[in-house]
Amino acid sequence: MSKKLWGTRFPKRTSLLTDRFTSSISYDQRLAKYDCLGSIAHARMLGRQRIIPLKDASLIVKGLESILKDVVNGKFKFDLNQEDVHSNIQDALFKKIGRSADKLHTARSRNDQVVLDVKMFMRDEVNEFLRLITLLQKSILKFAENNSQVIIPGYTHLQMAQCVLLAHHLLAYIECMERDKERLKDSQKRLSLMPLGSCALSGTSLPISREQVRVELGFGALTGNSIDSVSDRDFIIEFLAGLSILSVHLSRLAEDLILWSTKEFNFIDIDYSFCTGSSIMPHKKNPDVLELIRGSTGKIQGSLSCMLMLMKGLPLSYNRDLQLDKPALFDAADTMKSVLEIFAELFQNIAVEKDTIALKITDESLFSVDIVEYLIKKGEPYRQAHDIVGRMFRDCSGKERRISDLSVSELKKYSSKLELDVKKILNALASVGLKTSFGGTSPRLVSRQLKNWSKKLK
Ligand code: ARG
Repeated sequence: MSKKLWGTRFPKRTSLLTDRFTSSISYDQRLAKYDCLGSIAHARMLGRQRIIPLKDASLIVKGLESILKDVVNGKFKFDLNQEDVHSNIQDALFKKIGRSADKLHTARSRNDQVVLDVKMFMRDEVNEFLRLITLLQKSILKFAENNSQVIIPGYTHLQMAQCVLLAHHLLAYIECMERDKERLKDSQKRLSLMPLGSCALSGTSLPISREQVRVELGFGALTGNSIDSVSDRDFIIEFLAGLSILSVHLSRLAEDLILWSTKEFNFIDIDYSFCTGSSIMPHKKNPDVLELIRGSTGKIQGSLSCMLMLMKGLPLSYNRDLQLDKPALFDAADTMKSVLEIFAELFQNIAVEKDTIALKITDESLFSVDIVEYLIKKGEPYRQAHDIVGRMFRDCSGKERRISDLSVSELKKYSSKLELDVKKILNALASVGLKTSFGGTSPRLVSRQLKNWSKKLK
């Protein structure tokens, strides 16, 4: 390993194993852009405060700006023999501008520097996630709009329950994802606290201006306690918790689609372009993309667990354990990005099997609550109405008869309040039309919801 930032104090070289074991350059190099930006702001402040000569500050800034350009263009060559991203940039700067580079790390530690880098990285990342989640919401919305008339059986306990609009079911997920976005937006408040100037853990005797750095880097406020600044990783935990909840929603959505695409349900057909086959069973068309979306939840929640475990029992303040926050963070973010991307595409490649669904929703058990509510409207107390309809379904299913085939006198045996007009509500369209309470599945309400979401997601 090349000369270390802390090498002088050591009477001998570290073991090669130690170098390899402690190195983070293989993954923290993706923070390079933010490391440069943070260092530029820091150097400018050091100059303005006359902590280092203005001449050195401006040399440092110019040097870093040219390094930044290379980093952004992908031209920067990382030296994998350097411990981490910070050493890499520091070394590259030295090679560019010589001894002035030695003044950059004044009144700074990698402990506050790395928190700054990660927070800046995450600020961009959160914005990217807000964009990607919105894209998926829009894709789901488009699919819902294209199938706005379709009524499906809704399920509880995975047993047929009551009719709902397919669009209503899909809007439920759009609603979930809006909460996910809210959570991420809320996390931005904590992400916008600027840590630099906390140094190793205690602050500094040098006359720095943290405020100048804050303003230049666009943070909302300063972290209030230098010890907390270098040891806090709540913002990563929060972010991973946010992604974990999002992943639960996406996993449930994937599971719905997987079920619906089975021969047993056959509500939808997922285009070949988003399925895979079997190496042994020639007839197969499997929903592997959806299964991997569902499975990715495990990886993302694994990252959250990793962070929680990492933090538990760590004494204040900085400990090297904290370096392992980055693989967890990056892996979860990358995984979720690829999930959101492919899910949005997949939704434009689903066909709805309207005929199969139309047949399924002729099942009269889907309208049992409608008959109960019919009786309630005629003055029957709820409990008695429930009993009456229970008897009707018990008898009919025993005799393989349909309620819509019962004669008036047969109906009257169950309740004097039952008239022939009850048969008018024994169909899916009437059933959903009746659900006019706020948030319910009536086509009028759902079409209003579709319009609202379309406006909101623009
Ligand atoms: N690579 C380290 C991390 O990710 C940077 C900070 C190292 N600080 C230290 N005192 N060893 O946390």
